[in-house]
Amino acid sequence: MKKSAFYLRLEKTLMKILAIETSCDDTGIAILEYKNRSSRPAVLADLVSSQTKIHAPWGGVVPMLAKREHQHNLVPLLIKALSKAKLLRKHKSQIPKPKLQTINSILEREPELSKNLRLFLPKYQKPKIDYIAATIGPGLEPALWTGVNLARALSFYWNIPLLPVNHLAGHIAAGFTTLEKSDFPIMSLVVSGGHTQLVLVKKINTYRIVGETRDDAAGEAFDKVAKMLNLGYPGGPVISHLASKTKNYKLKTNYLRLPRPMLNSGDLDFSFSGLKTAVLYTLQKMTPAQIKKQTPALAAEFQQAVVDVLTTKILSAAKQFQAKTIMLGGGVAANEALRAALKQKTADSGRRFLVPTQKLCTDNAAMIALAAYYQLKNKTAKPSVWRSLQAQANLRIS
Ligand code: KG4
Ligand code: ZN
Repeated sequence: MKKSAFYLRLEKTLMKILAIETSCDDTGIAILEYKNRSSRPAVLADLVSSQTKIHAPWGGVVPMLAKREHQHNLVPLLIKALSKAKLLRKHKSQIPKPKLQTINSILEREPELSKNLRLFLPKYQKPKIDYIAATIGPGLEPALWTGVNLARALSFYWNIPLLPVNHLAGHIAAGFTTLEKSDFPIMSLVVSGGHTQLVLVKKINTYRIVGETRDDAAGEAFDKVAKMLNLGYPGGPVISHLASKTKNYKLKTNYLRLPRPMLNSGDLDFSFSGLKTAVLYTLQKMTPAQIKKQTPALAAEFQQAVVDVLTTKILSAAKQFQAKTIMLGGGVAANEALRAALKQKTADSGRRFLVPTQKLCTDNAAMIALAAYYQLKNKTAKPSVWRSLQAQANLRIS
């Protein structure tokens, strides 16, 4: 075989997925490459543009502001990602623009995104991308649609198939990077700003929710408690930072002791709204001087209460469903205290522990590309045509 033919054949097996994530307040674009089904995929680009500063004054995510920022960020991020993956090539000459009218109608509700995309597309050649994966839900409806509509427009213009991805499947796939066949069944805890779910993963893409929060998500509780303590938004990182400074904290005063809601409820559900209210009542009983002095201890006690409930429930779920592996995912999985406690308890129970890197825990598009990759690897992918792809704000994983 001639050398050039050999390389041509190798190149044919190189597949690339472009992924788009806009379910909440992070704009994410990633590009994943894989050679064949047995080797591990490589992340060529993983870019996230955070909107934290925009939403911070409101103490939470404002959906219409998130939509505005996604519209603004998506095309610049796409260009950066393609360039980082060495897939950005300019056209040598001016090309006709007959397809741009359809782009305009696909992005009718996202005028800024439409304008940016119509400026970008005619200038550059079609990149070597094989699939476009997009988060279709769950999430904030207006935010989701920006990513979904960008995916539809690109799929139409470049004629590339679309892979719809469930955001929670993305959080789960983020933990799969060192996965072995023998790890199944896996008990996965997806714990983020919008979700707290125990998901039994029997095999890739076979999910069953076995427990979930009855009210607030754990991340939401972190955010609300941080707001009460005047610590800013998002609450998770700041509470975690404060709590780490009070390592081995001992409660000198009983009034700071918080409940561990539903710890012994006998089922696998959670509830965090009562914990949040307990923090509020505790604060109401304290003087301003006490609050100032005791805020780090209260943050540490709150975090410990969340960690106690989450770790206890995932361990009993793993036991109940005979899971070989325990896996953590979602923004709250970035929490050092939770990671350390669960790692220890998992080891004590003789199971394997999988947790994504902290960067892959909070919202990003690499996890969406990974979920799409595992769909393809496991032959469960259901490619969609650009006309029928839709955002589904309340999408469930099972
Ligand atoms: O997965 P994610 O980025 O977005 C959603 O899908 O919701 O999760 C965001 C949530 C926020 O509530 C944030 O406060 C929390 O994750 N979070 C943390 C930490 N980092 C982010 N919670 C606790 N400790 C952290 N280090
Ligand atoms: Zn998320």
